[in-house]
Amino acid sequence: MQKLSDIGLIGLAVMGENLVLNMESKGFQVSVFNRSTSKVDDFLAARAKGKNIMGTHSLKELVDSLERPRKVMMMIKAGGAVDATIDALVPLLDKGDVIIDGGNTHYPDTERRVKLVESKGLLYVGSGVSGGEEGALLGPSIMPGGSKQAWPLVQPIFQAIAAKVEDGTPCCDWVGESGAGHFVKMVHNGIEYGDMQLITEAYHIMKDLLGLSADEMHEVFKEWNTQELDSYLTEITRDIMAFKDEDGSPLVEKILDKAGQKGTGKWTGITALDLGVPLTLIGEAVFSRCLSSVKDERVEASKLLSGPKLEFKGDKKQFISDIKDALYAAKIVSYAQGYALMKTAADEFAWDLNYGGIALMWRGGCIIRSAFLGKIKEAYDKEPKLTNLLLDPYFIETVNNAQAGWRRVIAAAVTNGIPVPAISTALSYFDGYRSEQLPANLLQAQRDYFGAHTYERVDKPRGEFFHTNWTGRGGDTASTTYNV
Ligand code: 6PG
Repeated sequence: MQKLSDIGLIGLAVMGENLVLNMESKGFQVSVFNRSTSKVDDFLAARAKGKNIMGTHSLKELVDSLERPRKVMMMIKAGGAVDATIDALVPLLDKGDVIIDGGNTHYPDTERRVKLVESKGLLYVGSGVSGGEEGALLGPSIMPGGSKQAWPLVQPIFQAIAAKVEDGTPCCDWVGESGAGHFVKMVHNGIEYGDMQLITEAYHIMKDLLGLSADEMHEVFKEWNTQELDSYLTEITRDIMAFKDEDGSPLVEKILDKAGQKGTGKWTGITALDLGVPLTLIGEAVFSRCLSSVKDERVEASKLLSGPKLEFKGDKKQFISDIKDALYAAKIVSYAQGYALMKTAADEFAWDLNYGGIALMWRGGCIIRSAFLGKIKEAYDKEPKLTNLLLDPYFIETVNNAQAGWRRVIAAAVTNGIPVPAISTALSYFDGYRSEQLPANLLQAQRDYFGAHTYERVDKPRGEFFHTNWTGRGGDTASTTYNV
């Protein structure tokens, strides 16, 4: 009789196939299934040929081929297909078996599915998997959450296939209950949007204001990738700058400036609004993609709306160094905001998130992997209850040092009419966060003036609310005081 498999995987698209090959290369036997079963046969005849991979042609056959407690991982499109697959799997599985969703699922769906699957006596894991095609094959970052009892069952496989940091620690650890794994993956993707937007703004300034060629920018990104900005996204940007089309010109300049998005950045922004967390940089990154996508409208507007004439006065080399500082400082703000979102969500949903552990999970394998995440890990190792990343001594010093250049870059961009929504919103957040006094006193006065919404006073204890009859025509009745 053939040996039973260690895990079953459903969904042989590129991520699924590569994860299977990764698992097999680490010594696990994997059973595979795909809704169009010809894909199973194709996979077995090609990339899986001669490997310890078992093809199956029905969910029942897949389930029957697995060692108990069974572990079935779905790598399928998020949404209805996941629900349908769960419905089909549940009657085939037994108590204690585990269903895993490794797709980019919205975390409330995972919360709901954990409850549903647990109510049937089974276990459920919603896991973020990042790193794209190559990561899935060679070592992704894996962020699992859901039924805690499932962790010891999936841990040996997940940690074996995950990327490893220099000391061999896997970029995979238990994130938390319910939808925590997919929540952390969502924030990862939001941060990915922010990092990408920041890099594109730096590119825009270098190209249009400094007049740098793609080859020159290749050199700049190459240098940055050896310093604080050392990251996967800097690295691929370096390579993109050097990549030539068939006619020898840079391919990047031939690509239509219209950004796509699959929605994970948008979810991050919506969640931040729901939880009341100022996640301004990721918000701007999402909106920038939206603005880019109205290409035809922008072409029309460009004929009617004019801006300043581009003119750079100054030392280019110094300014490139300023752009690097602006990028680094804004990136710190973006991560501070992303971590603030995770902290608020952890309080709201009673998750015990390990912030240093999350930085470590993101340190390798995933799209936002960078040297900088090591600094975040250090900050949370030193102070696990850190309120905001910007309050860690290393980041205080770094932002202080970068500040002058950051401001110069924004000033030059604004003067020359180059949009820098992410770099500048980060500075506004920084300036707001470090302000003891903000003008919200006036805002409260306005709310009370037109709607009797009441205000607190600086000369009275907190929690005591006042209403003023500002015009003499209003009454003394205040509206109820509540905050969303
Ligand atoms: C990853 C990526 C991935 C994401 C794509 C596309 O971690 O491997 O985050 O999960 O889906 O990058 O995202 P957009 O189409 O929204 O840019």
